[in-house]
Amino acid sequence: MKLIFATHNPNKVIELNKQLPSSIALSDLLELGFNEEIPETENTLEGNAILKATYIYDKTGNDVFADDTGLEIEALNGEPGVFSARYAGNNKNATDNIKKVLKNMEGVTNRKAQFRTVFALIIAGKLQLLEGVIKGSILKQPQGDNGFGYDPIFCPNGYTQSFAEISLDEKSKISHRGIATQKLVAFLKNRT
Ligand code: IMP
Repeated sequence: MKLIFATHNPNKVIELNKQLPSSIALSDLLELGFNEEIPETENTLEGNAILKATYIYDKTGNDVFADDTGLEIEALNGEPGVFSARYAGNNKNATDNIKKVLKNMEGVTNRKAQFRTVFALIIAGKLQLLEGVIKGSILKQPQGDNGFGYDPIFCPNGYTQSFAEISLDEKSKISHRGIATQKLVAFLKNRT
């Protein structure tokens, strides 16, 4: 089975390929020559994932899936959520995003948060949504150098370290994206 992953991020493809059965041939947008970014104009993770998957399905007619992820902080009414990548502004980076979160969380005792990934899958023209969630809390300051994005300030429930202090292998087993990927693999295996 040929499946397109509507992403330009080669790390995501490597991560996924490790878990997919060999009967599924995954290709990404760079491989297909789609170099332009697909604008993420929706205001939900689901909306953006569907938008990206539909865009590529309409262009290629091939089975496809797309992902979108956000950090949802309870005390900030779910922010940064769908705006996680650009929380501090379009030209800002992960350090700026973390600073903004910590500033908004100053003096806040409810530190509950979750990472949520949504996969929108279009197989034979039929849409299927899959979700992966990891619950945890926002630390008072950044800890660790591994990972990316908000990893240094997110401590998963049951752990004393941040996502940036545990190994990538361990993170992949418990993370939002890891869980969504396990669901994707199970879904695809059930079809073959
Ligand atoms: P994307 O939808 O996977 O591109 O994720 C959107 C944004 O969410 C990223 O730019 C990061 O800021 C944040 N993010 C997604 N996944 C993770 C993660 O595993 N750790 C930390 N931050 C993440």
